[in-house]
Amino acid sequence: MKTILTYGTFDVFHVGHLNLLKRARALGDRLIVALSTDEFNLEMKNKVTAIPYRDRKMILEHLNCVDLVIPEINWEQKINDVLNHNVDIFVMGDDWQGKFDFLSDYCEVQYLKRTDNISSTMIKQHISSGNNGQLLAADMSL
Ligand code: CTP
Repeated sequence: MKTILTYGTFDVFHVGHLNLLKRARALGDRLIVALSTDEFNLEMKNKVTAIPYRDRKMILEHLNCVDLVIPEINWEQKINDVLNHNVDIFVMGDDWQGKFDFLSDYCEVQYLKRTDNISSTMIKQHISSGNNGQLLAADMSL
């Protein structure tokens, strides 16, 4: 049984998120998502989530590629999460390249290429700009 762990906010869920989660799950047998709480986003990242934690969690829990959702409440919990859940591979998108290499003392660390042309921020900006058109289709050629 190979366990994968990843972290994120997954606000305004989009195809870049799905793509990352599917590829992460394909690396093993069980994918755990540590989902950052609304308080963590506000206090640590100065970001207001558009979708509340309860709803973001519900969406993730209903995906075939996600086996368990746990809360991310601080920056320091990662080593404990890896040990407590017997994690084999820690996965993040490559916007975090190198940032979590310290975890390689405890498990394998992999950074997956992000999907181009899509992010929660892009979607929020697109809508708030009043643009009625569609966003460009995300580039799935990873
Ligand atoms: N991710 C990805 N491709 C994208 C957007 C996100 O692979 N186009 C990955 C991130 O690298 C991360 C995970 O999805 O591993 C969760 O990212 P998150 O920060 O929640 O999503 P973003 O869309 O990047 O949100 P924001 O615009 O608020 O930064």
